[in-house]
Amino acid sequence: MKVVVLYGGKSPESPISQKSAESVIKALKTLGHEVFPLELTRDVSLKLKELKPDKVFVVLHGCPGEDGTVQGLLEIAELPYTGCNVETSAICMDKDATKRILKTYGIPVPAGETYFKGDEVKPFEIPCVVKPARTGSTIGISIVRSPSEFEKAVEEAFKFDTKILIEEFIEGRELTVSVVNGKALPIVEIVTETGFYDYDSKYKSQTTKYEVPAKLHPKTEEKIKRIAEKVYKVLECRGAVRVDFRLDKWNSPYVLEVNTIPGLTERSLLPKAAKAEGITFEELIEEMLKS
Ligand code: DAL
Ligand code: MG
Repeated sequence: MKVVVLYGGKSPESPISQKSAESVIKALKTLGHEVFPLELTRDVSLKLKELKPDKVFVVLHGCPGEDGTVQGLLEIAELPYTGCNVETSAICMDKDATKRILKTYGIPVPAGETYFKGDEVKPFEIPCVVKPARTGSTIGISIVRSPSEFEKAVEEAFKFDTKILIEEFIEGRELTVSVVNGKALPIVEIVTETGFYDYDSKYKSQTTKYEVPAKLHPKTEEKIKRIAEKVYKVLECRGAVRVDFRLDKWNSPYVLEVNTIPGLTERSLLPKAAKAEGITFEELIEEMLKS
């Protein structure tokens, strides 16, 4: 198959997209596909017209690209592409919109407030999490553990977005569930030295530990997997997505967000989950390509 791998762009997550793309390109070549890497630039539509691929493998993290904009361009060009459609991509890029929808379907999410640039931000119970509504890879996110850190955290989040979320911090465990074609893969638990799975512990730290499958009571495991599958269904996801969770001390799960283009670097979580299910990286990429 003639496959264009679309990567890069202007998002702060562009370096991660490049790393994901390297892994995807290698796998697609191993699988025998004809691969054309294509960087997301202003003239991408012209290049796509020239290349006439059978499929576009979208490996863009953040905006633009993960937010439905590129998916819209591909719809109009009538080019089949991997992953979620325009609507789902746009909703999931926005953690505020995602939470509001999930809540109406009875899916547990952390309590919180939403603020727009210029709003008077009211104090929030500590510890809390302050985050831009539409970033990835923890960019602009702070865990606030003392009132003196609050103002700085709000300022930091507003550097990246005009809308921010302030949420209760769920003391407990960090879990993620990859869902491929509607079915949950083994749960991954992430254990960091600092207790914060931030940009450095995601992509740089050598001490971040991953437990796959996460050691959970079978009932809790089942419950979390079914929630992840319900999230996939109600948001009408397609292909492979990753649903991030916190699990509190009483084993109650909370959905933080949905990643419609999960990282595919050698350190990323979706490939780890697939491996635990006996699915090789190449098999995962082929599955994503087919869906
Ligand atoms: N946003 C990063 C790439 C992830 O979800 O893995
Ligand atoms: Mg994310």
